[in-house]
Amino acid sequence: MCGIVGIVGDRAVSERLVDALKRLEYRGYDSAGVATIHDGKLERRRAEGKLVNLETRLQAEPLAGNIGIAHTRWATHGAPTENNAHPHFTDGVAVVHNGIIENFSEIKDELGGAGATFKTQTDTEVVAQLLAKYRRDGLGYREAMQAMLRRVTGAYALAVIFEDAPDTIMAARSGPPLAVGYGKGEMFLGSDAIALSPFTNEITYLIDGDWAVLNRDGVEILDHDGNRVERPRQVSVAAAYMVDKGNHKHFMEKEIYEQPEVISRALGHYVDLIENRIDLEAVSIDFAKVQSLAISACGTAYLAGLIGKYWFERYARLPVEADVASEFRYRDIPLSPQSAALFISQSGETADTLASLRYCKDEGLQIGAVVNVRESTIARESDAVFPIMAGPEIGVASTKAFTCQLAVLAALAIGAGRARGTVSRQEEERLVRHLTEMPRIMSSVLNSIQPKMESLARELSKCRDVLYLGRGTSYPLAMEGALKLKEISYIHAEGYAAGELKHGPIALIDENMPVIVIAPHDRFFEKTVSNMQEVAARGGRIIFITDEKGAAASKLETMSTIVLPVVDEIIAPMIFSLPIQLLAYHTAVFMGTDVDQPRNLAKSVTVE
Ligand code: AGP
Repeated sequence: MCGIVGIVGDRAVSERLVDALKRLEYRGYDSAGVATIHDGKLERRRAEGKLVNLETRLQAEPLAGNIGIAHTRWATHGAPTENNAHPHFTDGVAVVHNGIIENFSEIKDELGGAGATFKTQTDTEVVAQLLAKYRRDGLGYREAMQAMLRRVTGAYALAVIFEDAPDTIMAARSGPPLAVGYGKGEMFLGSDAIALSPFTNEITYLIDGDWAVLNRDGVEILDHDGNRVERPRQVSVAAAYMVDKGNHKHFMEKEIYEQPEVISRALGHYVDLIENRIDLEAVSIDFAKVQSLAISACGTAYLAGLIGKYWFERYARLPVEADVASEFRYRDIPLSPQSAALFISQSGETADTLASLRYCKDEGLQIGAVVNVRESTIARESDAVFPIMAGPEIGVASTKAFTCQLAVLAALAIGAGRARGTVSRQEEERLVRHLTEMPRIMSSVLNSIQPKMESLARELSKCRDVLYLGRGTSYPLAMEGALKLKEISYIHAEGYAAGELKHGPIALIDENMPVIVIAPHDRFFEKTVSNMQEVAARGGRIIFITDEKGAAASKLETMSTIVLPVVDEIIAPMIFSLPIQLLAYHTAVFMGTDVDQPRNLAKSVTVE
């Protein structure tokens, strides 16, 4: 996902723009650039790769000016080269863009046919070319902006400056988020509250269809038809968030170790700790009236939803249809207004998940959002919002958001069971008591297993392929373990239902392919042990993640056995997440990959 920042004020902006881009690095990018206007002249500097390269360029060729826009690019159209980096320039217009202009090729053909010369392979350049054309046709910068917005289709957050309007930044949003920040004698623009937090904590999020005219004294927000509109001005919590790693080497490591703290914060929102009950005030969907539940998300959030499916079916006796968002809305699932739908998203901006939400909304379902960003688009378009309160997650690989999503889904499933009469008060108290033990257990597990995971990771870093196995809720967890490993260490890994091993994957087993088996001593333990015997009989090497009872019960020889405390099934997925997160993290560290910003990945994918 790209990052956008803009400043218009009464003092130099280029260094502050680059500093603000640093707070957006977590989104993933492969080039960056900045443009300013000084003495009536538009200038830019761009660089491939990390921001340090842009800083080097600016040290050699400083950019003056009290107005500017800047951008980190995650390439969609065109290679991640300097020439394709934003800002894009045409005849005194500079543009930065997050999203995709879907009709860019027809516009490019049309303008090219009329003599325009395109210099890049990007979709964004058509925005600059269109604006330049409209200005040449005699339109003012506001009229040109409005005409361009009527012409382009697709998803965009845009910031534009015109050389002949050195006091004005134009902005527009349709899809990817864009926020205005209020300063004293200066105004700001940013992709999210974290980008703006060095300057202000007072922000206004534009909504889809809005465009805006910023100058140093304020902002005018207009709707698609050009009518002036008011949008809420809020104090952002992100401003209080120090985007730093503390004493950790990576944000991902910091966020793994934050889990006990943020889980207890999340539980505090959903659990009555005195009564050991779910606080139904927080469960703002009336599950007693819900006939079935749809769950849709992407990546790790989807795998959290898959675990949630097991819980809603078991404790609330609700039929649950779960699918990845990119498939969900194309299946013509028979949905009814008596169904509810839960959309899980750390960023609250994932395009596929948002599209699935809108599909279910059109079908008349009650919409719930399990999100980490309360002011996100997915949250705003939902009937009920279930915050996971994990705090900003900077590492691209999701860790604390995953376990907080699980904690919230567990609370909702128990709350739904209580509302539907399928969970007795005694059972509710028992389950809630286990939930509240999580922070303590997580802290002790994190401190006890760290050295072993580090040494095991050294072995794993020499492998090319890894298989993860699990049953019950350990099956989605096996898939999450595989996703964590492959997305940050680039080692191929697959997560499989343990019972499926003999239906194909067993052909892969040999001494070169470690098999990571996730198996608390639960109802499925014996069956999983027999799957392990199938692996061992073929010379496969097993990494066994179990609990004290499982370790005592299994006599199998393994490459390594990680022993966790015996915990109730309702919290096993959160506790067993810890070794798979640490294993992936340390393997990636040994591999020397960019742990917090793995290649090709973005923190939130705002394009379909
Ligand atoms: C998880 O480690 C990945 N970074 C990715 O799968 C992520 O979970 C997915 O893109 C969904 O993002 P969201 O939670 O912000 O919607």
